[in-house]
Amino acid sequence: MPEDKLCVATLLTCTAPVNIAVIKYWGKRNEDLILPINSSLSVTLHQNQLKTTTTVASCKHFKEDRIWLNGKEVDINHPRLQSCLREIRRLARKRHSDEENKSEKLNLSQKVHICSVNNFPTAAGLASSAAGYACLVYALAKLYGVQGELSKVARQGSGSACRSMYGGFVQWIMGNRSDGKDSIAEEIHPETHWPQLRILILVVSSERKPVGSTTGMQTSVKTSPLLKYRAESVVPQRMKEMVDAIGKRNFEKFAELTMKDSNQFHATCGDTYPPIFYLNDVSKRIMNMVHRYNSHYGHIKAAYTFDAGPNAVIFTLDEDVGEFVELVKEYFPPETNGELFLKGLTVSKVTLSEELKSAIGMEPCSNGIDYIISTKVGPGPQMVEDTSCHLLGLDGLPKQNI
Ligand code: DP6
Repeated sequence: MPEDKLCVATLLTCTAPVNIAVIKYWGKRNEDLILPINSSLSVTLHQNQLKTTTTVASCKHFKEDRIWLNGKEVDINHPRLQSCLREIRRLARKRHSDEENKSEKLNLSQKVHICSVNNFPTAAGLASSAAGYACLVYALAKLYGVQGELSKVARQGSGSACRSMYGGFVQWIMGNRSDGKDSIAEEIHPETHWPQLRILILVVSSERKPVGSTTGMQTSVKTSPLLKYRAESVVPQRMKEMVDAIGKRNFEKFAELTMKDSNQFHATCGDTYPPIFYLNDVSKRIMNMVHRYNSHYGHIKAAYTFDAGPNAVIFTLDEDVGEFVELVKEYFPPETNGELFLKGLTVSKVTLSEELKSAIGMEPCSNGIDYIISTKVGPGPQMVEDTSCHLLGLDGLPKQNI
Protein backbone atom coordinates (compact mmCIF):
# COMPACT_ATOMS: atom_id res chain seq x y z
CA MET A 1 0.00 0.00 0.00
CA PRO A 2 1.51 3.46 -0.83
CA GLU A 3 2.40 5.35 2.33
CA ASP A 4 0.12 8.34 1.62
CA LYS A 5 -2.93 6.08 1.51
CA LEU A 6 -2.30 4.43 4.85
CA CYS A 7 -5.10 4.48 7.33
CA VAL A 8 -3.66 5.12 10.76
CA ALA A 9 -5.17 2.99 13.52
CA THR A 10 -4.16 5.09 16.52
CA LEU A 11 -3.71 8.85 16.54
CA LEU A 12 -3.58 11.09 19.57
CA THR A 13 -2.51 14.62 20.48
CA CYS A 14 -1.18 16.12 23.71
CA THR A 15 0.18 19.46 24.87
CA ALA A 16 2.87 20.27 27.44
CA PRO A 17 4.09 23.46 29.12
CA VAL A 18 7.33 25.42 29.34
CA ASN A 19 8.81 25.81 32.83
CA ILE A 20 11.11 28.45 34.27
CA ALA A 21 13.54 27.45 37.01
CA VAL A 22 13.78 29.65 40.10
CA ILE A 23 16.46 27.34 41.53
CA LYS A 24 18.57 26.42 38.52
CA TYR A 25 19.74 23.03 37.32
CA TRP A 26 23.27 23.37 35.95
CA GLY A 27 25.62 20.39 35.80
CA LYS A 28 25.27 16.62 35.44
CA ARG A 29 26.82 13.78 37.39
CA ASN A 30 25.82 11.30 34.67
CA GLU A 31 25.59 12.50 31.05
CA ASP A 32 23.75 9.48 29.62
CA LEU A 33 21.03 9.20 32.25
CA ILE A 34 20.94 13.02 32.71
CA LEU A 35 21.41 13.02 36.47
CA PRO A 36 21.98 16.49 37.98
CA ILE A 37 24.52 17.63 40.57
CA ASN A 38 21.81 19.56 42.45
CA SER A 39 18.06 19.63 42.92
CA SER A 40 16.11 22.42 41.20
CA LEU A 41 12.70 24.06 41.37
CA SER A 42 10.51 25.62 38.71
CA VAL A 43 7.25 27.33 37.96
CA THR A 44 5.16 25.88 35.13
CA LEU A 45 4.03 28.57 32.68
CA HIS A 46 0.49 28.67 31.31
CA GLN A 47 -0.08 26.80 28.07
CA ASN A 48 -2.42 29.47 26.71
CA GLN A 49 0.72 31.47 26.05
CA LEU A 50 3.48 28.87 25.67
CA LYS A 51 3.09 25.22 24.82
CA THR A 52 4.25 22.36 22.64
CA THR A 53 1.64 20.26 20.83
CA THR A 54 2.57 16.74 19.77
CA THR A 55 0.62 14.18 17.76
CA VAL A 56 1.70 10.54 17.76
CA ALA A 57 0.44 7.91 15.35
CA SER A 58 0.98 4.21 15.16
CA CYS A 59 0.20 1.90 12.27
CA LYS A 60 1.18 -1.57 11.16
CA HIS A 61 2.09 -0.21 7.73
CA PHE A 62 4.69 2.30 9.01
CA LYS A 63 8.14 1.14 7.96
CA GLU A 64 10.16 3.19 10.44
CA ASP A 65 9.83 5.61 13.35
CA ARG A 66 9.76 9.22 12.04
CA ILE A 67 9.59 12.67 13.65
CA TRP A 68 8.75 16.18 12.40
CA LEU A 69 9.59 19.22 14.53
CA ASN A 70 8.08 22.61 13.69
CA GLY A 71 7.35 21.53 10.13
CA LYS A 72 10.67 19.82 9.31
CA GLU A 73 11.53 16.14 9.49
CA VAL A 74 14.49 15.56 11.83
CA ASP A 75 16.67 12.54 12.54
CA ILE A 76 14.86 10.10 14.82
CA ASN A 77 18.21 8.53 15.72
CA HIS A 78 19.14 11.43 17.96
CA PRO A 79 20.35 9.64 21.14
CA ARG A 80 18.02 11.53 23.48
CA LEU A 81 14.95 10.83 21.32
CA GLN A 82 16.00 7.20 21.21
CA SER A 83 16.36 7.10 25.02
CA CYS A 84 12.77 8.33 25.47
CA LEU A 85 11.33 5.97 22.84
CA ARG A 86 13.26 2.99 24.20
CA GLU A 87 12.28 3.72 27.80
CA ILE A 88 8.55 4.15 27.07
CA ARG A 89 8.52 0.95 24.99
CA ARG A 90 10.31 -0.90 27.79
CA LEU A 91 7.69 0.28 30.30
CA ALA A 92 4.91 -0.66 27.88
CA ARG A 93 6.36 -4.16 27.43
CA LYS A 94 6.71 -4.52 31.18
CA ARG A 95 3.10 -3.50 31.73
CA HIS A 96 1.99 -5.78 28.94
CA SER A 97 3.74 -8.79 30.44
CA ASP A 98 2.61 -7.92 34.00
CA GLU A 99 -1.02 -7.78 33.00
CA GLU A 100 -3.40 -10.69 33.06
CA ASN A 101 -5.41 -9.29 30.24
CA LYS A 102 -3.16 -9.12 27.22
CA SER A 103 -5.75 -7.71 24.85
CA GLU A 104 -3.47 -4.74 24.28
CA LYS A 105 -4.89 -2.51 21.59
CA LEU A 106 -1.47 -1.54 20.36
CA ASN A 107 1.11 -3.85 18.95
CA LEU A 108 4.42 -2.84 20.47
CA SER A 109 6.41 -3.70 17.39
CA GLN A 110 4.52 -1.09 15.36
CA LYS A 111 6.47 1.99 14.33
CA VAL A 112 5.38 5.49 15.31
CA HIS A 113 5.17 8.83 13.56
CA ILE A 114 5.58 11.92 15.76
CA CYS A 115 4.82 15.51 14.84
CA SER A 116 5.45 18.42 17.19
CA VAL A 117 5.00 22.21 17.04
CA ASN A 118 5.46 25.11 19.45
CA ASN A 119 2.97 27.96 19.73
CA PHE A 120 5.85 30.39 20.26
CA PRO A 121 8.69 31.27 17.89
CA THR A 122 11.80 29.14 18.40
CA ALA A 123 13.73 32.20 17.24
CA ALA A 124 12.66 33.97 20.44
CA GLY A 125 15.30 31.87 22.19
CA LEU A 126 12.83 30.46 24.71
CA ALA A 127 13.91 27.02 25.81
CA SER A 128 11.67 24.62 23.93
CA SER A 129 13.35 21.30 24.66
CA ALA A 130 11.71 20.97 28.09
CA ALA A 131 8.17 21.32 26.73
CA GLY A 132 9.12 19.27 23.66
CA TYR A 133 10.41 16.20 25.50
CA ALA A 134 7.69 16.40 28.16
CA CYS A 135 5.07 16.40 25.42
CA LEU A 136 6.72 13.56 23.52
CA VAL A 137 6.93 11.35 26.62
CA TYR A 138 3.39 12.18 27.74
CA ALA A 139 1.94 11.44 24.28
CA LEU A 140 3.90 8.20 23.80
CA ALA A 141 2.85 7.04 27.27
CA LYS A 142 -0.80 7.61 26.33
CA LEU A 143 -0.29 5.80 23.04
CA TYR A 144 1.23 2.74 24.71
CA GLY A 145 -1.02 2.88 27.79
CA VAL A 146 1.93 3.44 30.12
CA GLN A 147 1.01 4.91 33.49
CA GLY A 148 2.90 5.97 36.60
CA GLU A 149 5.92 8.15 37.15
CA LEU A 150 7.02 9.50 33.78
CA SER A 151 9.28 12.41 34.79
CA LYS A 152 12.29 10.09 34.88
CA VAL A 153 11.67 9.24 31.23
CA ALA A 154 11.29 12.90 30.21
CA ARG A 155 14.50 13.66 32.16
CA GLN A 156 16.39 11.44 29.75
CA GLY A 157 15.33 13.69 26.86
CA SER A 158 16.38 16.92 28.55
CA GLY A 159 16.97 17.43 32.26
CA SER A 160 14.59 20.37 32.64
CA ALA A 161 11.87 18.42 30.75
CA CYS A 162 11.13 16.34 33.86
CA ARG A 163 9.77 19.49 35.52
CA SER A 164 7.40 20.15 32.58
CA MET A 165 5.57 16.89 33.40
CA TYR A 166 3.68 18.74 36.14
CA GLY A 167 1.79 21.98 36.57
CA GLY A 168 2.14 24.60 39.29
CA PHE A 169 5.32 24.57 41.36
CA VAL A 170 7.63 21.65 40.71
CA GLN A 171 10.81 20.36 42.28
CA TRP A 172 13.27 18.00 40.62
CA ILE A 173 14.84 15.97 43.41
CA MET A 174 18.39 15.14 42.34
CA GLY A 175 18.37 11.68 43.94
CA ASN A 176 21.54 9.75 44.70
CA ARG A 177 21.14 6.35 43.07
CA SER A 178 23.45 5.64 40.17
CA ASP A 179 20.58 4.20 38.07
CA GLY A 180 18.66 7.48 38.40
CA LYS A 181 15.44 5.88 39.64
CA ASP A 182 15.17 8.42 42.46
CA SER A 183 15.92 11.46 40.27
CA ILE A 184 12.36 12.56 39.67
CA ALA A 185 10.18 15.65 39.53
CA GLU A 186 7.20 16.24 41.80
CA GLU A 187 4.54 18.89 42.06
CA ILE A 188 4.85 20.72 45.36
CA HIS A 189 1.78 22.93 44.79
CA PRO A 190 -0.81 22.99 42.01
CA GLU A 191 -1.30 25.88 39.57
CA THR A 192 -4.12 27.26 41.74
CA HIS A 193 -1.86 27.70 44.79
CA TRP A 194 -0.80 31.31 44.16
CA PRO A 195 -3.28 32.98 41.79
CA GLN A 196 -1.81 36.47 42.31
CA LEU A 197 1.54 35.50 40.83
CA ARG A 198 2.16 36.94 37.35
CA ILE A 199 4.97 36.26 34.92
CA LEU A 200 6.37 38.45 32.13
CA ILE A 201 8.84 37.16 29.58
CA LEU A 202 10.89 39.99 28.14
CA VAL A 203 12.16 38.75 24.79
CA VAL A 204 15.48 40.50 24.38
CA SER A 205 16.85 41.22 20.90
CA SER A 206 20.04 39.36 20.20
CA GLU A 207 21.97 38.34 17.09
CA ARG A 208 24.22 35.78 18.73
CA LYS A 209 23.21 32.18 19.33
CA PRO A 210 24.45 31.45 22.86
CA VAL A 211 26.33 28.29 23.91
CA GLY A 212 23.76 25.51 24.37
CA SER A 213 23.01 24.43 27.94
CA THR A 214 24.23 20.84 27.46
CA THR A 215 27.71 21.92 26.35
CA GLY A 216 27.77 24.92 28.68
CA MET A 217 27.12 22.86 31.79
CA GLN A 218 29.68 20.22 30.77
CA THR A 219 32.38 22.89 30.67
CA SER A 220 31.18 24.36 33.97
CA VAL A 221 31.31 20.95 35.72
CA LYS A 222 34.87 20.45 34.45
CA THR A 223 36.23 23.87 35.27
CA SER A 224 34.18 25.87 37.81
CA PRO A 225 35.00 25.54 41.51
CA LEU A 226 32.09 27.91 42.19
CA LEU A 227 29.65 25.44 40.61
CA LYS A 228 30.82 22.67 42.95
CA TYR A 229 30.44 24.97 45.94
CA ARG A 230 26.99 26.05 44.75
CA ALA A 231 25.75 22.46 44.27
CA GLU A 232 27.08 21.20 47.60
CA SER A 233 26.79 24.16 49.93
CA VAL A 234 24.20 26.61 48.58
CA VAL A 235 21.39 24.83 46.74
CA PRO A 236 20.36 22.30 49.46
CA GLN A 237 19.51 25.09 51.95
CA ARG A 238 18.09 27.34 49.22
CA MET A 239 15.71 24.60 48.07
CA LYS A 240 14.26 24.37 51.59
CA GLU A 241 13.86 28.13 51.83
CA MET A 242 12.23 28.30 48.40
CA VAL A 243 9.74 25.53 49.19
CA ASP A 244 8.87 27.37 52.40
CA ALA A 245 8.50 30.77 50.67
CA ILE A 246 6.22 29.31 47.98
CA GLY A 247 4.19 27.40 50.58
CA LYS A 248 3.58 30.64 52.49
CA ARG A 249 3.10 32.70 49.30
CA ASN A 250 5.83 34.97 50.66
CA PHE A 251 6.55 37.03 47.53
CA GLU A 252 9.51 38.97 48.90
CA LYS A 253 11.35 35.85 50.01
CA PHE A 254 10.46 34.01 46.78
CA ALA A 255 11.64 36.98 44.72
CA GLU A 256 14.90 37.44 46.61
CA LEU A 257 15.83 33.75 46.34
CA THR A 258 14.89 33.72 42.65
CA MET A 259 17.17 36.68 41.83
CA LYS A 260 20.04 35.39 43.96
CA ASP A 261 19.87 31.99 42.35
CA SER A 262 19.81 33.43 38.83
CA ASN A 263 22.79 35.62 39.73
CA GLN A 264 24.73 32.70 41.15
CA PHE A 265 24.01 30.56 38.11
CA HIS A 266 25.39 33.33 35.84
CA ALA A 267 28.35 33.76 38.19
CA THR A 268 29.18 30.05 37.71
CA CYS A 269 29.03 30.66 33.96
CA GLY A 270 31.55 33.48 34.42
CA ASP A 271 33.67 31.14 36.58
CA THR A 272 33.65 28.54 33.79
CA TYR A 273 36.84 28.43 31.74
CA PRO A 274 36.61 29.72 29.06
CA PRO A 275 33.79 31.85 30.51
CA ILE A 276 30.24 31.68 29.15
CA PHE A 277 28.21 34.88 28.89
CA TYR A 278 24.46 34.54 28.53
CA LEU A 279 23.45 38.00 29.71
CA ASN A 280 23.86 40.95 27.38
CA ASP A 281 23.71 44.69 28.07
CA VAL A 282 19.93 44.75 27.83
CA SER A 283 19.65 41.88 30.34
CA LYS A 284 21.88 43.79 32.76
CA ARG A 285 19.84 46.99 32.29
CA ILE A 286 16.69 45.02 33.12
CA MET A 287 18.33 43.73 36.32
CA ASN A 288 19.30 47.26 37.22
CA MET A 289 15.79 48.54 36.57
CA VAL A 290 14.25 45.83 38.79
CA HIS A 291 16.58 46.71 41.68
CA ARG A 292 15.90 50.43 41.35
CA TYR A 293 12.16 49.75 41.18
CA ASN A 294 12.29 47.64 44.34
CA SER A 295 14.45 50.10 46.24
CA HIS A 296 12.14 52.98 45.30
CA TYR A 297 9.31 51.17 47.09
CA GLY A 298 11.55 49.91 49.90
CA HIS A 299 10.47 46.31 49.38
CA ILE A 300 10.62 43.69 46.65
CA LYS A 301 7.80 44.01 44.11
CA ALA A 302 9.49 42.37 41.09
CA ALA A 303 12.10 39.67 40.51
CA TYR A 304 14.09 38.59 37.46
CA THR A 305 15.56 35.29 36.40
CA PHE A 306 17.58 34.40 33.29
CA ASP A 307 18.31 30.98 31.76
CA ALA A 308 20.95 30.18 29.15
CA GLY A 309 20.20 33.28 27.07
CA PRO A 310 19.54 37.04 27.41
CA ASN A 311 15.71 36.91 27.86
CA ALA A 312 14.42 38.00 31.25
CA VAL A 313 11.58 36.30 33.08
CA ILE A 314 9.97 38.66 35.58
CA PHE A 315 7.75 37.68 38.51
CA THR A 316 5.36 40.20 40.06
CA LEU A 317 2.03 40.13 41.85
CA ASP A 318 -1.07 41.03 39.80
CA GLU A 319 -1.46 44.42 41.52
CA ASP A 320 1.97 45.48 40.21
CA VAL A 321 2.13 43.89 36.78
CA GLY A 322 0.58 46.89 34.94
CA GLU A 323 3.09 49.28 36.45
CA PHE A 324 6.01 47.00 35.58
CA VAL A 325 4.89 46.74 31.94
CA GLU A 326 4.72 50.56 31.76
CA LEU A 327 8.22 50.70 33.18
CA VAL A 328 9.47 48.38 30.43
CA LYS A 329 7.75 50.53 27.79
CA GLU A 330 9.27 53.67 29.27
CA TYR A 331 12.86 52.40 29.46
CA PHE A 332 12.87 50.02 26.49
CA PRO A 333 10.55 51.89 24.08
CA PRO A 334 9.34 49.70 21.22
CA GLU A 335 9.75 51.52 17.91
CA THR A 336 7.87 49.55 15.33
CA ASN A 337 5.52 47.07 16.96
CA GLY A 338 3.87 49.26 19.58
CA GLU A 339 0.53 47.43 19.38
CA LEU A 340 2.07 43.97 19.38
CA PHE A 341 4.58 44.72 22.10
CA LEU A 342 2.52 43.03 24.82
CA LYS A 343 1.28 39.54 24.00
CA GLY A 344 -0.72 37.17 26.19
CA LEU A 345 -2.67 38.15 29.30
CA THR A 346 -3.85 41.74 29.41
CA VAL A 347 -2.57 44.07 32.10
CA SER A 348 -4.22 47.16 33.51
CA LYS A 349 -3.11 50.58 32.25
CA VAL A 350 -1.05 52.52 34.77
CA THR A 351 0.56 55.97 34.63
CA LEU A 352 4.06 56.05 36.06
CA SER A 353 4.58 58.62 38.78
CA GLU A 354 7.28 61.27 38.35
CA GLU A 355 8.86 60.11 41.63
CA LEU A 356 9.20 56.57 40.29
CA LYS A 357 10.68 57.79 37.01
CA SER A 358 13.26 59.93 38.75
CA ALA A 359 14.11 57.07 41.12
CA ILE A 360 14.75 54.78 38.14
CA GLY A 361 16.76 57.53 36.42
CA MET A 362 17.87 55.45 33.44
CA GLU A 363 18.30 56.53 29.82
CA PRO A 364 15.68 54.85 27.59
CA CYS A 365 17.15 52.13 25.36
CA SER A 366 15.08 51.72 22.17
CA ASN A 367 14.58 48.35 20.57
CA GLY A 368 16.34 46.42 23.35
CA ILE A 369 13.24 44.29 23.94
CA ASP A 370 11.35 42.80 20.98
CA TYR A 371 8.16 42.01 22.89
CA ILE A 372 6.70 40.90 26.21
CA ILE A 373 4.71 37.71 26.80
CA SER A 374 2.41 38.13 29.77
CA THR A 375 1.42 34.87 31.46
CA LYS A 376 0.77 33.10 34.77
CA VAL A 377 1.28 29.74 36.46
CA GLY A 378 -0.33 26.90 34.53
CA PRO A 379 -1.20 23.22 34.44
CA GLY A 380 0.87 20.21 33.35
CA PRO A 381 0.59 18.16 30.14
CA GLN A 382 -2.85 17.47 28.76
CA MET A 383 -4.55 15.29 26.21
CA VAL A 384 -6.38 17.17 23.42
CA GLU A 385 -9.85 15.71 22.81
CA ASP A 386 -10.63 17.69 19.64
CA THR A 387 -9.49 15.42 16.79
CA SER A 388 -9.27 18.38 14.38
CA CYS A 389 -6.15 19.40 16.35
CA HIS A 390 -4.18 16.35 15.22
CA LEU A 391 -0.99 17.44 13.49
CA LEU A 392 -0.82 14.21 11.47
CA GLY A 393 -3.45 13.14 8.96
CA LEU A 394 -4.95 9.68 8.61
CA ASP A 395 -2.11 8.95 6.19
CA GLY A 396 0.30 9.38 9.13
CA LEU A 397 1.98 12.40 7.53
CA PRO A 398 2.00 16.03 8.73
CA LYS A 399 -1.04 18.00 7.62
CA GLN A 400 -0.28 20.65 4.99
CA ASN A 401 -0.92 23.69 7.19
CA ILE A 402 1.64 23.07 9.92
C1 DP6 B 1 19.66 27.18 32.55
O1 DP6 B 1 17.54 20.94 30.56
O2 DP6 B 1 18.27 22.36 28.61
O3 DP6 B 1 17.55 26.37 31.82
O4 DP6 B 1 19.65 18.40 30.41
O5 DP6 B 1 21.45 19.10 28.83
O6 DP6 B 1 19.05 19.08 28.08
P1 DP6 B 1 20.03 19.27 29.25
O7 DP6 B 1 19.90 20.78 29.70
P2 DP6 B 1 18.61 21.70 29.89
O8 DP6 B 1 19.22 22.78 30.90
C2 DP6 B 1 18.45 23.80 31.46
C3 DP6 B 1 19.32 24.78 32.14
C4 DP6 B 1 18.66 26.04 32.63
C5 DP6 B 1 18.24 25.92 34.09
C6 DP6 B 1 17.01 25.11 34.40
O9 DP6 B 1 16.06 25.04 33.60
O10 DP6 B 1 16.98 24.58 35.53
